[in-house]
Amino acid sequence: METLKAIGVGVIHVRVSASAPGKITLFGEHAVVYGKPAIVMAINRRIRVELSRRNDGRLVIDLPDISVKGVRLTVNLAGGSSMEALDSGSAASYALQALKLASEKFGGDLGLDVKIESSMPVGAGLGTSAALSVATLAAYAALQGFEPTREALAKMGREVEVAVQGSSSGMDAAAVAYGGAILYRHVKGDAQIERLSFGERIILAVGYTERVLPTSESVKLVSKIFSKHNSTVIRVLDAIGELVLEARRALETDDIKGVGELMNINHGLLYALGVSTPRVEQIVQVARGAGALGSKLTGGGMGGSVVCICPDNNTLESVVSAIRIAGYTAFGVTEDRYGVMLEGKS
Ligand code: MEV
Repeated sequence: METLKAIGVGVIHVRVSASAPGKITLFGEHAVVYGKPAIVMAINRRIRVELSRRNDGRLVIDLPDISVKGVRLTVNLAGGSSMEALDSGSAASYALQALKLASEKFGGDLGLDVKIESSMPVGAGLGTSAALSVATLAAYAALQGFEPTREALAKMGREVEVAVQGSSSGMDAAAVAYGGAILYRHVKGDAQIERLSFGERIILAVGYTERVLPTSESVKLVSKIFSKHNSTVIRVLDAIGELVLEARRALETDDIKGVGELMNINHGLLYALGVSTPRVEQIVQVARGAGALGSKLTGGGMGGSVVCICPDNNTLESVVSAIRIAGYTAFGVTEDRYGVMLEGKS
């Protein structure tokens, strides 16, 4: 692992803001938890975290654009019960866990104002928990005079997800820390990350519906079916692993029709694993009917987001309108090349 780099040693800041992008998994979610490769791409929607020191020792988390409007959460860390008081899996629990981990690694106390803003729906399968965790880690480290590498932030981001949701392949944290598109694999505690370059050549829409279950629960559903029908489910996971490698070749040779076909196959296999819902199926079908070359659920599933690949920008507009007419949120997404960024220090 690359080491943590101290920036401007001794320079302790009073206010730092950092941001990290969301992501879409193009291929391989769920199977990645079982050591298969996945292709994931950071997108042009971000979560911003601003940390400012307070001198009364309290930790105040503002979630203006997230969950209930205008919520202000004051956490009494000395009381010891604050983590349990939060809904496990809520945006605040990722921020709090990230701050806890960062203060252990970089020192300092948690007397802070935390302001969080998101330009994408939270908990929609677009990597918002990873983006929030990684941006919070980067901001806190900078507050204390450190600038950790992307590799270190991805690793810590995974630790936060494991602590909050019980398990994580680390794929989302890597995607939002690095930016761009990557082939990700997590084998025996080791993350393998390979940068891929096709992101600017694909045209993607996202459709979104409310989630029925968070990622932690959909991962548990797959684990149950894996235990019950082991030899069958192993074949499904193997097939996903195979198609990810085929999709990589299709993406790198601009075989967009092939990419679409493989997305449809990947979606069918995710359906087989039991993580789709009727609404997700509706978005998938509406997108294909409007001209998408392929569409699949992206992320943990059980509601959440569907990614659709389009042959051109006119089709992108048709797909977005068709999904909206069907009653869902939809928007176009492009690749984010920057990953986690520090935005300001004082
Ligand atoms: C969630 O975005 C992706 C999953 O594969 C879980 C994980 O990788 O930890 C469902």
